[in-house]
Formats: sequence, structure tokens, C-alpha cells
Amino acid sequence: MADRPYVLLSCGTSIDGCLDDGSAERLLLSNDADFDRVDAARAECDAIMVGAGTVRRDDPRLQVRSAQRRAAREARGLNASPLRVTLTARGGLDPAARIFTAAQEAGDPLVYCPSSAVGGLRARLGGLATVVDAGDPVDLGRLLADLRGRGVRRLMVEGGESVHTQFLSAGLVDELHLVIAPFFVGEARAPRLVGGGRLPRDPGRRATLVEVRRIEDVVLLRYTFPTSCPHR
Ligand SMILES: NC(=O)c1ccc[n+]([C@@H]2O[C@H](COP(=O)([O-])OP(=O)(O)OC[C@H]3O[C@@H](n4cnc5c(N)ncnc54)[C@H](OP(=O)(O)O)[C@@H]3O)[C@@H](O)[C@H]2O)c1
Repeated sequence: MADRPYVLLSCGTSIDGCLDDGSAERLLLSNDADFDRVDAARAECDAIMVGAGTVRRDDPRLQVRSAQRRAAREARGLNASPLRVTLTARGGLDPAARIFTAAQEAGDPLVYCPSSAVGGLRARLGGLATVVDAGDPVDLGRLLADLRGRGVRRLMVEGGESVHTQFLSAGLVDELHLVIAPFFVGEARAPRLVGGGRLPRDPGRRATLVEVRRIEDVVLLRYTFPTSCPHR
């Protein structure tokens, strides 16, 4: 396995495993205390990545919010927020998305895409992002090796379903932070923690549960997945 960052997958679901619902509004699964925990976890990472579906649906800023954490990062010689990263196959990203327009305090966002989409995306995004050829089709191992080459030692992957499924199926996740919200979504077509696929932890090969933490009305489950990542 090529040198790659330590990969932390962080997400929240309903009791029935949904990442979102079908309403027009963004579904808030967590509470303020847990959002603050996520902010602290972000502040410890070098980069945060979401799929293009999450960019389109949630329009996240992917920034560290706490002024103290931002200042602490800067005192360590880092940017106030981690590098922002996304990936797309079709290239349908809006240049007005917050991942591109939020304050440039973390360097240019990175967009990984297939070789065939590089030219179109560079034209579409102009100077708003660095567009990186990740193979055709995109090779997640190559993407991670490229991030490592840019100094990323710890990557936080924050969704959505498609990205979770691929990273887990490829054995590229070292740690999972799963928050369960105390309600059901109950929609058959809602995005789930993972879609179908061959996942590395099955009943015969269980993950390691390293922490259970109650955070007001949600619960955080922390699992580790033994991998060959050199940056444990
Ligand atoms: N509860 C939570 O913690 C949480 C966190 C994040 C997201 N979500 C939810 O998750 C949902 C989005 O999930 P999703 O599965 O639709 O989208 P997603 O995983 O965020 O993004 C999927 C998109 O990413 C690109 N992509 C993924 N794998 C790729 C690959 N190997 N090569 C190239 N491009 C690739 C493709 O973009 P193109 O289509 O542009 O080609 C693909 O359509 C939203 O409802 C969001 O609210 C929830």
C-alpha cells in the first residue's frame, strides 16, 4: 500500500442508519455539544473531504468554527482550518459552493476528478480550486497518495453515502466516528451510512469498539479498523 494519510470517517445517522432525509431542508442529526466535538476533531486534521453529492446537497464550509481552535492551529504554524477536498466524476460542481467561496484560510480547495474531466473543471472553477487528475476512473489510492504528498497526514472524511461505501470497501478507513441521533427517518430511499458492497468488517471480522460516549441525547461510537496505514 502506498504511503497515505490516516483516514478518519466521521458521520451521524438516525437510529435507522440514515444520513439524511428527502426534505428540502438539511437534516440536523446532532446537537450543539456534538457539533463542537466534531469541530475539535476537524481541528486535529490536515484535510477534510466530502463527495460532490454532499457539496451539492449540504453546501458545507468545511471550516473549524471555534476561534480558540483556529488560533491554536495558527500558533502551531498551520492554516486556521484544514485543507478542503472533494471529488467528482462528472464535474458538476458550482463555483458558488461554499467549499470554494468560504474564506481562503486553508489554501486552495482540492478537487479530484478523472483525467477526462480535468480541463472542463479547470475552466469551470477558474482559480477557485486546484483540480487534480486522479486517474480514469478516479483511483482512491492515488488520491490518498497525492494528499500525503501534499503533507496531509490525517484526513477526515465526512460523507456522504457513496464516499463512505467506497472508502470502507477499499479498506481505506482506519477509524470511524459514528453518532446516532435519537429518531428514525423511515424513508426507504434516504441515503444510508453505506450502500451495498463488500465491506471489510462482517460478522466474521468484527471492528474494534474503542469508545462509547453519551453526548446529551446522541451517542458517539468510535471504532477502529486494523489497516496497513503507516500513520496510526
Ligand atoms: N449525516 C452525515 O453525517 C452526513 C455527512 C455527509 C453527507 N451526508 C448526506 O449524504 C448525502 C450525500 O451522499 P451521496 O452518496 O449522494 O453523495 P457523496 O458521497 O457526498 O458524493 C457522491 C459524489 O461524489 C463523487 N464521487 C464519489 N466517488 C467518486 C469516485 N470514485 N470518483 C469520482 N467521483 C466520485 C461523484 O460526484 P459527481 O456526481 O459530481 O460525479 C458522486 O456522485 C446527502 O444527503 C448529505 O446530506 C450526511
